[in-house]
Amino acid sequence: MGSSKWILGIISSVVSVMNVVAGGVTMEPAEDGRYTITAPGIKAQFITYGATLTNLFVCDKSGKEVDVVLGYDDASFYARDKSHPTYNSIPGRYANRIGKAQFTIDGKTYRTQRNDGQNTLHSGTNNWSYRNWNVTSFSGDSITFSIVDEEGESTGMPGQVDANVTYTVANGTWSIKMVATSPKTQTPLMLTHHTYFNLDAYRNPATSLIWDHTLSMPYAERYLAIDSNSLPTGKVLTAAAGSANDFASQANLTLGHARSSSQLRGNCGNNCEGYNGFWIFDNVPRDAVVLTLASLWSGIKAELRTNQIGVVLYTCAWSDGSANLKRTQGTGSRKRVEKSSCIAIEAQDYVDGINHREWDRVDAQITGPGETYIWQSSWSFGTIM
Ligand SMILES: *[C@@H]1O[C@H](CO)[C@@H](O)[C@H](O)[C@H]1NC(C)=O
Ligand SMILES: *[C@@H]1O[C@H](CO)[C@@H](O)[C@H](O)[C@H]1NC(C)=O
Ligand SMILES: *[C@@H]1O[C@H](CO)[C@@H](O)[C@H](O)[C@H]1NC(C)=O
Ligand SMILES: *[C@@H]1O[C@H](CO)[C@@H](O)[C@H](O)[C@H]1NC(C)=O
Ligand SMILES: *[C@@H]1O[C@H](CO)[C@@H](O)[C@H](O)[C@H]1NC(C)=O
Repeated sequence: MGSSKWILGIISSVVSVMNVVAGGVTMEPAEDGRYTITAPGIKAQFITYGATLTNLFVCDKSGKEVDVVLGYDDASFYARDKSHPTYNSIPGRYANRIGKAQFTIDGKTYRTQRNDGQNTLHSGTNNWSYRNWNVTSFSGDSITFSIVDEEGESTGMPGQVDANVTYTVANGTWSIKMVATSPKTQTPLMLTHHTYFNLDAYRNPATSLIWDHTLSMPYAERYLAIDSNSLPTGKVLTAAAGSANDFASQANLTLGHARSSSQLRGNCGNNCEGYNGFWIFDNVPRDAVVLTLASLWSGIKAELRTNQIGVVLYTCAWSDGSANLKRTQGTGSRKRVEKSSCIAIEAQDYVDGINHREWDRVDAQITGPGETYIWQSSWSFGTIM
């Protein structure tokens, strides 16, 4: 899109912030419930529910604006649709699974909610991704959301946690910084941003599925073996070149590269085709790109940098066509989120590391008084031709 459009976007955000300040009100969203931040080449929109990213516009190879993340048109629908799959929000205070819904700190065993078979997923049913966060700062290119998670609010979790997330955009890049503390006691604390992408905005006439997107993770040869419920078994494996879980050996492997060999069936658990596992980033040079997602059709590429040591990939195996696409996505005849049509990319620490001393991540996953937890990532968007 032309730079004048971005400049108009920036001016209108500045004007809306000034209106708010002039009116003496607190930082309110636009009429549609969204907060918008803009910079050249990028526009991001958020709601307080889950501190969720609802829309992310970047440019495709012809300069057209494309909304590359999943979500809903109606900002109030996130709270009503309890079954939405943690769309672009922050599951906390401990992301992903806790095996057998329990963990032990200093000899004391804590029991969390079993909301995923025998295990806990995303801290249970009062997870951070389903609460309204407070907006504590908002300008034309940056917004901060805050949450205080009181003792007892996240079932079974000890003590209070305070957290802030700041989203910033600059020149085609979206940055995320989360800072959290646990002032009263030691607690498991492991965050992520649960971002769902389809870089074609579901407009590629040939396919709505994610298999043609390429994924490159040059430092991630190793991954965690999982059981039928996507819970790590403890085993750390190395992906052979060309095998289903290999995204390290070449830069242009598609997400569907192992599909014809049927290796993808059962790869993410019982009756699950695709991915729902954790990859480990080893020996990453400072500030290096650890993951590149790209689509030849739109020409968009997304590069991830992070201070996290691994990433969860989930290829939307449980999307069943019941959720609608946003108006900014799809075609006349394609209006729904079909199975395997998106990918969630979640930079984080080892899944269930709290219960696996052998990985040596227990200390890193527990935060206590006097400590500050910091999570940082950025997504830089560009085109591949
Ligand atoms: C998060 O909490 C909501 C609201 O209680 C619940 O519907 C949802 O299932 C929870 N998420 C997970 C992953 O359990
Ligand atoms: C937002 O701020 C209010 C007032 O300080 C507080 O009562 C509420 O708990 C906060 N919400 C969250 C999610 O922390
Ligand atoms: C913006 O990003 C592009 C592409 O990465 C780069 O070529 C350009 O120099 C950047 N501009 C500024 C002002 O940082
Ligand atoms: C979050 O931001 C508020 C200011 O808005 C600050 O008082 C608080 O200390 C911050 N919390 C953390 C954990 O950084
Ligand atoms: C992928 O890249 C390799 C070289 O890195 C090249 O030999 C191969 O032809 C490429 N495949 C595709 C499908 O582009």
